Amino acid sequence: MELEKENFPKHIAIIMDGNRRWAKQRNLPTKLGHKEGAKTLEKIVRYANKIGLEYITVYAFSTENWKRPVTEVSFIMELLSRYLTSEIEEFNRNNVQVRFMGSREGLPEVVKQKMDHAVEATKNNTGIILNLAINYGGQAEILQAIQRIAADTEKGLLKVEDIQAETFENYLYTAGLPAPDLLIRPGGDNRISNFMLWQIAYAEIWTTDAYWPAFTPEMFLQAIKEYQGRERRFGGLVTK
Ligand code: FPP
Repeated sequence: MELEKENFPKHIAIIMDGNRRWAKQRNLPTKLGHKEGAKTLEKIVRYANKIGLEYITVYAFSTENWKRPVTEVSFIMELLSRYLTSEIEEFNRNNVQVRFMGSREGLPEVVKQKMDHAVEATKNNTGIILNLAINYGGQAEILQAIQRIAADTEKGLLKVEDIQAETFENYLYTAGLPAPDLLIRPGGDNRISNFMLWQIAYAEIWTTDAYWPAFTPEMFLQAIKEYQGRERRFGGLVTK
């Protein structure tokens, strides 16, 4: 498939959904669905980098995911921890810079160490920025920003009239990153699921019934192509 340079998205966000259903459909344990999901992530990041995407944010673990069976949560944490170790070489080979968004509270110590190490080991890479949402919730993100803004206002570091959209954005986990242009959700649901509530205000949404482990670079490309054909108006009149 040909790729046009015009209207190429800068930032794509993905809700990696459907791992469990993918496994169930094949009579496999849930774990294998997540494991395959991690492989899909590796493939998509490599491909996204190759086609020149600048930012990719993926939902790996939500603040609500703690409600899952303890064994499943531990497995995802273990998988993440292994992924962050085994992928460093791949990240560096492909010039990928890793970042995280979410609350560190409640994460296992080893995961936090691996996260810090991955950020440090890839900080000079100049290719795609892979932003991993871990223990992330959109409402929680907005609340923590408000609390920090209120604290800074109380300390006299901010004035009420200074609290504009740009100031607010500096208090979000995504400070310094552009808002996603395109949100991709595999797995057949058409929901936002508490993901990047502020940042996706004007994002285009692309969904597919395919489960995340079965998601392919071809689908990713299809989403980009459809995005390129859409008309974004940002609440105003035609922009192109
Ligand atoms: C959603 O599928 C997926 C998750 C809750 C976890 C996402 C984890 C990965 C893709 C792999 C681990 C990530 C890394 C970075 C190594 P689901 O379990 O909600 O599936 P369902 O909708 O079929 O129940």
